Amino acid sequence: MSENKTLTTFKVKLAPVIGTEITVPGDKSISHRAVMIASLSNGPCVITNFLAGEDCLSTMAAMEQLGVKIERHENQMVVHGIHGKFKAPEKDIDCGNSGTTMRLLSGILAAQPFTSRLTGDPSLSKRPMRRVVEPLEKMGAKLKTEGDKGCPPITITGGNLKPIEYRTPIASAQVKSAVLLAGMLTEGDTTVIEPARSRDHTERMLEYFLVRTRREGNSVTIHGPQVPESRDFVVPGDISSAAFWLVAGAAQPGSRLLIENVGLNPTRTAIIDVLIRMGARIREVIEEVEHGEPSGTLDVQGANLKATVIGGDEIPNLIDEIPIIAIAAALAKGKTIIRDAKELRVKETDRIAAICTNLRAIGVNVTEKDDGMEIEGPTIFRGTTVKSFGDHRIAMAFAIAGLFCEGEMIIEDTECVQTSYPGFHDTLVEVQKGKGWLNRRTHVISAMPPKKKKNE
Ligand code: S3P
Repeated sequence: MSENKTLTTFKVKLAPVIGTEITVPGDKSISHRAVMIASLSNGPCVITNFLAGEDCLSTMAAMEQLGVKIERHENQMVVHGIHGKFKAPEKDIDCGNSGTTMRLLSGILAAQPFTSRLTGDPSLSKRPMRRVVEPLEKMGAKLKTEGDKGCPPITITGGNLKPIEYRTPIASAQVKSAVLLAGMLTEGDTTVIEPARSRDHTERMLEYFLVRTRREGNSVTIHGPQVPESRDFVVPGDISSAAFWLVAGAAQPGSRLLIENVGLNPTRTAIIDVLIRMGARIREVIEEVEHGEPSGTLDVQGANLKATVIGGDEIPNLIDEIPIIAIAAALAKGKTIIRDAKELRVKETDRIAAICTNLRAIGVNVTEKDDGMEIEGPTIFRGTTVKSFGDHRIAMAFAIAGLFCEGEMIIEDTECVQTSYPGFHDTLVEVQKGKGWLNRRTHVISAMPPKKKKNE
């Protein structure tokens, strides 16, 4: 079965022991930032291994709508930066399913002297935007949301901002980045202070593009106005995509899996700490720090997992991995407790509800909590039909559950996987072939699709 837009279900069966080496496509968070910061820079930037998933393509299309010229090549693109000054868009900017596009772009547009309107698909239209509206209004931009309780669409009239010191009520890389990007284009010192450290790709990338920032503990200050220096950038593999295979390998005694060229930024690797606490055997080898981001190889050997407790400051650094951690927990001996993760309720879907519904359907004893869940294991999953709830990470987590099921797991509505992981299904098929595949590599090529024609 090949993966394309018409593929709407995954069918997965119990897999033999895994023995293979894989790579995963480019990091989603880093790809968004690379195309945005290169667009704001003062010249051409070559970006390699950009994730050609739908979310990042929404960001790329938004940059083009704002006047940025982007040349597409095989696994590379050249972004012609326009010195921090965008052109007013002729129509609404469609952010698709991507919260990162809408929130980071809100920060950039708050500093541009024109009006723009950001829209999204039905899932994005239900996601909270007050978290970026509030600080950007404090800086002096005018933002109006049209949905219920501060949900999209958002209309932004920007320009003439003043710097602020802002304490974010939640640890959110998207909020922090929106304020820092607005601050970069604003005269004076803008500071963001977080209650716990969220992923720091924006800070690292700004530093790499020679934008001066000051970091102390959970506080970041940017002195504006500054324009990023045009430079080339290589996007490492996405640890959030690797996480699916990490669990597939870690939870099966006898398996051995190498995941190469994966981003190992410490604000993203809490999944490794959690799996090690659960008894997994994982070796992390940082091979390079290229363009400000560490990357390397993960070497996983399967084991019988045991339960753990996950909460507190660890949550922001594994928030996107909780769907697949829930699968690991259901395979582990004992009761795993996940708490302080209420943010999951406002992701692409209510992930706490979606995980609990699907876990129950496959025979797992799970208790839903307001801010997390308690999962009892070990369970041999019952193969059945589950829904993706239109959420890429729910679809992929339950596809991995299928590798451990009796019978057949059918996951419906899996087109959403394209938002973050084109090629996931091809690797799933290969992994199901088992150990004989050792030493063959899959290289997931994220080739650039051609630019959409007007009215397409
Ligand atoms: C992201 C930050 C996280 C994460 C999202 C991507 C980013 O969200 O869940 O998938 O690229 O900045 P929050 O910043 O809202 O926690």
